[in-house]
Amino acid sequence: MIYKNKIGVLILSLLVLFCVGCENDYDYYDDDEIIISQFGDDESHKTGQNCMDCHTVDGSGEGQFSIAGTIYHEDQITPYENVTVKLYSQADIVEIILEVDANGNFYTNEIVDWGDGLFPSVLGETEEQKMIQSVNNGACNECHDGTTTPRIFSN
Ligand code: HEC
Ligand code: HEC
Repeated sequence: MIYKNKIGVLILSLLVLFCVGCENDYDYYDDDEIIISQFGDDESHKTGQNCMDCHTVDGSGEGQFSIAGTIYHEDQITPYENVTVKLYSQADIVEIILEVDANGNFYTNEIVDWGDGLFPSVLGETEEQKMIQSVNNGACNECHDGTTTPRIFSN
């Protein structure tokens, strides 16, 4: 009897583990090949340009990005490497965390549910800067081109 219960607990544990695994099963654009920036990576390029000029469904760039852009230091000239980008829900819950790579760039091809809009932020070494308005797309450098809108920067 005790033996049977242990098996039961084991099966239950496996089921729970399996379900947790399922929930973490994200979808990605482009045949499920995961392309996400990580601290220290230097595979990216075109710092400051609108990545979605090319990394779209019909674009020349490898991977269809849902979110991509560049972070700068306060001078808005020097790329800020290895910091963190977050996107908050309307309820102020962190939905997405992205690591900025060694070129100051961040990117992901994970499919994003924008809902009613998400609030981007960047966490630098000393403080977190948050966007007041929410966004419905992740082409960050399209707006933050340093001309119409300042670069995304942090301290
Ligand atoms: C003018 C078009 C163009 C722009 C703009 C562009 N890319 Fe690319 N990207 C490409 C092409 C083409 C490739 C594949 C060949 C290569 O590596 O050059 C690529 C490859 C990459 C790769 C390597 C993907 C892999 O699977 O190894 C990364 C990462 C990347 N780009 C990130 C970015 C980021 C971040 C931006 C914006 C800051 C950006 N790209 C802007 C065209 C572009
Ligand atoms: C539709 C244009 C637009 C898009 C797209 C956009 N931003 Fe912004 N962003 C702005 C404007 C305008 C401001 C200044 C007003 C404000 O904070 O809402 C701003 C401010 C910010 C700030 C606070 C100031 C700073 O630089 O520290 C951060 C951080 C930021 N944006 C990050 C991002 C990130 C990350 C993305 C991509 C996920 C993004 N933004 C996409 C227009 C945009």
